[in-house]
Amino acid sequence: MTFRKRYTGLIENYRDRLPVSDNTRLISLGEGNTPLIQLQNIPALLDNKVDIYVKYEGLNPTGSFKDRGMTMAVTKAVEEGAKAIICASTGNTSASAAAYAARAGITAFVLIPDGKIAQGKLAQAMMEGAIILQIKGNFDDGMRLVKEVASHAPVTIVNSINPYRLQGQKTAAFEIVDELGRAPDFHCLPVGNAGNITAHWIGYSEYACFGENKGTETCAYCDGNCKFKRDAEVDSRPTMVGYQASGSAPFMRGEMVDDPETVATAIRIGHPQSWDYAWKVKEESGGWFDECSDEEILAAQKLLAEKEGVFCEPASATSLAGAMRDINSGKIPEGSTVVCTLTGHGLKDPDTAIKQSTAPVVKVDADLEQVKNAILDNM
Ligand code: F0G
Repeated sequence: MTFRKRYTGLIENYRDRLPVSDNTRLISLGEGNTPLIQLQNIPALLDNKVDIYVKYEGLNPTGSFKDRGMTMAVTKAVEEGAKAIICASTGNTSASAAAYAARAGITAFVLIPDGKIAQGKLAQAMMEGAIILQIKGNFDDGMRLVKEVASHAPVTIVNSINPYRLQGQKTAAFEIVDELGRAPDFHCLPVGNAGNITAHWIGYSEYACFGENKGTETCAYCDGNCKFKRDAEVDSRPTMVGYQASGSAPFMRGEMVDDPETVATAIRIGHPQSWDYAWKVKEESGGWFDECSDEEILAAQKLLAEKEGVFCEPASATSLAGAMRDINSGKIPEGSTVVCTLTGHGLKDPDTAIKQSTAPVVKVDADLEQVKNAILDNM
């Protein structure tokens, strides 16, 4: 009997494409390798026929895509001798930083906005032993403080301004191409700081120029010296589409937003850190930004759970909400292959889910007759 090789995380899996050496101690929780689920019921509800896949990043070890970046950032921080890491966070980065710091045996300091982080994320950071600094301010205030304090205290920043974060996160694009055998036509993501959309573009770009003599023309990311080898010929890259919540949409306003507001607290960000990169991604990929209202975001979250059994957090559903609108309008044309990233798990934010749920809760006695009648009444 032969056994499948044990999966031990994305650094090990894409070792030749990441900045580690044979001596590097890998800080990993088995992240990556998340399912690319083809939607079966939602496409039938749309006006134009397309193939939609969701990349379910909520199935990473701490329930969000942040683990891809954090395994790299913490691995490198430890390699460089750091004893403590720090981040500002709307919740997921703090949960991930706390977990990887625990794994590495170092300290995580996390700055979170007072009262604006989902319960699941707070519970994670608390259980994983992070030191939590709850600030009277929003994410953007936290980010400013993190950048300032890092030059006064021996802490390594693990927000996505840490370049190793994007290196880890680019592997999501590798996985998609490895599975589809090519890049999708469109890749839709929720955008907050815009680190993830940038990381995906780096990943797709690197894959598109793998191979001996291909680097020079298409890829600015490897300086034309691409050392990577790949099995399949992949010379396409997707059109990248970034969706923001209307109340937190600096890319739509064309300028920073000072008081961002949205039910999708993960992307309640008005001053994106990867501002310039993201505009470059839009230009290079021929893509666009758009915005979704809170109502559209919650409706997409619910539709996905009800029709496909996939539960993501509100911010994540922004990718599907926007994609459905652009498919219906024909902006994403018929026949396209579309990937939507679902950045975080639905269990991260149970309060918002329960608040908007209309699922019938039928109260009955612990009695066979009553249970039977309740079933027959609701068939
Ligand atoms: N979706 C979720 C669930 C997130 O947690 C985030 C960012 C994003 C999307 C946006 O990704 O910033 O790379 O454009 N969350 C950060 C945090 C800010 O602190 O957890 P981005």
